[in-house]
Amino acid sequence: MDIVRVEVYLDDASEPLAVVTEPPFNVRLDPAELGEGEHALTVVTHYQGGAKDHHEYAFDVSHKNNVFAGHISRAPLRAPIEVELVDAVERENPKAPNPVVYGLLPLALFLLVVVVSWYIAVRAESAAVDEPTNIQKIARSVAGAAPSAAKPAAGGADGEALYAANCASCHGASGEGVGSVFPALAGNDHLADAAYTIDVIVNGKPGTAMPAFGSRFSDEELAALVSYVRTSWNNSFGAVSAEDVASAR
Ligand code: HEC
Repeated sequence: MDIVRVEVYLDDASEPLAVVTEPPFNVRLDPAELGEGEHALTVVTHYQGGAKDHHEYAFDVSHKNNVFAGHISRAPLRAPIEVELVDAVERENPKAPNPVVYGLLPLALFLLVVVVSWYIAVRAESAAVDEPTNIQKIARSVAGAAPSAAKPAAGGADGEALYAANCASCHGASGEGVGSVFPALAGNDHLADAAYTIDVIVNGKPGTAMPAFGSRFSDEELAALVSYVRTSWNNSFGAVSAEDVASAR
């Protein structure tokens, strides 16, 4: 017998849910649009010549956990029709959010914990590294400052070199002097008087072998010389500045 059409009714509807006239006789049914609980599909098959048959198929719809399960197995379909229950996975892929929520969320939390721990560890490590680094920096700056303090050569003048070249021949390489002729500068209390020391070196001592160096050297060089003799060989009379020399000229 040739099928003219198949009408599918849902529950007590008077209008058919679907009417199919050609094979394949497929009817798509989305359980999401149905209420929870029992439903019935009525399939009316019209044959050529006016004959028809009538089958009713009960099924359940469950919306548990947002996953729809349509059970149509209670009454196997015998009519020439396939009722395709739209699977929840097929409709909106509802199983995909589950791995996201139950699989990726813990993973994300785990990664967050790892990243935070790593951050804390790195912070602690860098803090531990910073401390000695800063101490080293301070030590380095102190060490760097020390030589320039030992050389109070103002304006880059080297008091030690100037002394060696201009004074050591008479006053000794270490300021020890030569007998009673050239006075020792090491341990010489006269050098405690800065103005006197500057005056002697700038103007010399007329009538003695002590030459005047004021016209030979700049204020900076003279300050370096004066500072050198006042701070060397255990002398600790302090450095003088180029301004001190200039005002003494
Ligand atoms: C040619 C030798 C000679 C040279 C070079 C010389 N001096 Fe003198 N200097 C003397 C003599 C000599 C005296 C002692 C003068 C006096 O008081 O009778 C003296 C005295 C001094 C004094 C004073 C010491 C005191 O006890 O009062 C100072 C300071 C001094 N010289 C520094 C220097 C410096 C710095 C230089 C180098 C830039 C220098 N002299 C170069 C011979 C020299």
